[in-house]
Amino acid sequence: MTRSEVLVAREVGEIWDEAPVWPGGCRTRLLEGEEPLPSSKRVVALIPLLSRPIGWAEMEKLPGLRIVANYAVGVDNIDLSAAAARGIIVTNTPGVLTEATADLTWALLLASARRLREGLELTLSGRWGGWEPGQLLGLDLQGRNLGILGAGRIGAAVARRAAGFGLRVVYWSRRASSVLETEVGASRIPTLSEILEESDIVSVHLPLTRSTQGLLGPEELARMKKGSILVNTARGEIVDLDALAEALRDGPVAAAGLDVYPEEPCIPAELRAMPNAALLPHLGSATLRARQAMWQLARDNVRRVLAGEAPLTPVG
Ligand code: GLV
Ligand code: GLV
Repeated sequence: MTRSEVLVAREVGEIWDEAPVWPGGCRTRLLEGEEPLPSSKRVVALIPLLSRPIGWAEMEKLPGLRIVANYAVGVDNIDLSAAAARGIIVTNTPGVLTEATADLTWALLLASARRLREGLELTLSGRWGGWEPGQLLGLDLQGRNLGILGAGRIGAAVARRAAGFGLRVVYWSRRASSVLETEVGASRIPTLSEILEESDIVSVHLPLTRSTQGLLGPEELARMKKGSILVNTARGEIVDLDALAEALRDGPVAAAGLDVYPEEPCIPAELRAMPNAALLPHLGSATLRARQAMWQLARDNVRRVLAGEAPLTPVG
């Protein structure tokens, strides 16, 4: 009898505390990041990285596939309608990375507001000439408006942290968020242009979908306040990077903090050269606790589906 297989991204194996045991004696098969998907009838479950696109063609190669348990909260790498049409369950890892990602968002927010990159470059270069009253002046946060785009878990967790910095929170979302309104006292702003015009800091917490792709283009960025800050820890494709580089050079955006890019790991040279762009290599959920919890959730989703139970965190 040939044993069924659970195909797991090899890099995830570096995170797990113990090797997984699957129902029905399925075995684990590791898949290298760059390795193409095998064609195999044996594979019943897949735990991929967010960098691996899973579309119709990939699903065709794995006709026995029952579940794709994405090792990420975002599922934009997966063709959800193809999965639905083939009866394949898709799951993600919500909740377990929320606080880690919110912390990283604040790291970028503060780095942008207080010109951390320029400060570090100055000290590390050995060219710092000593304390000066006018050196690297940044944006003080007290009393400013923080505009959150997207009122999901991460947006709310970022908003909760704002009270300590004396920021007023406004948000833009299709649906009203009781967490944001009652816990944070945030007001919902009905249109994207209004929130861009009102916010001193704009932080993106939307999923990547057809309607959010390119959401912040030249016109939108031009609406932002003079001296404002843009932070994106969601998905790179939501912000037009050419337009952002221009807005960082000529205004109105004073600084940006980015963790995500449209074509990772490629970051446009023009952006890398901007001293007012704090750029991180997609570290949102990069704490051991979050990454292990993501693994456990993906693993438990697979175990349940293989045992004929409902998954914990289905998408769609
Ligand atoms: C990371 O970007 C994720 O979606 O989990
Ligand atoms: C993701 O977990 C979100 O809802 O922001």
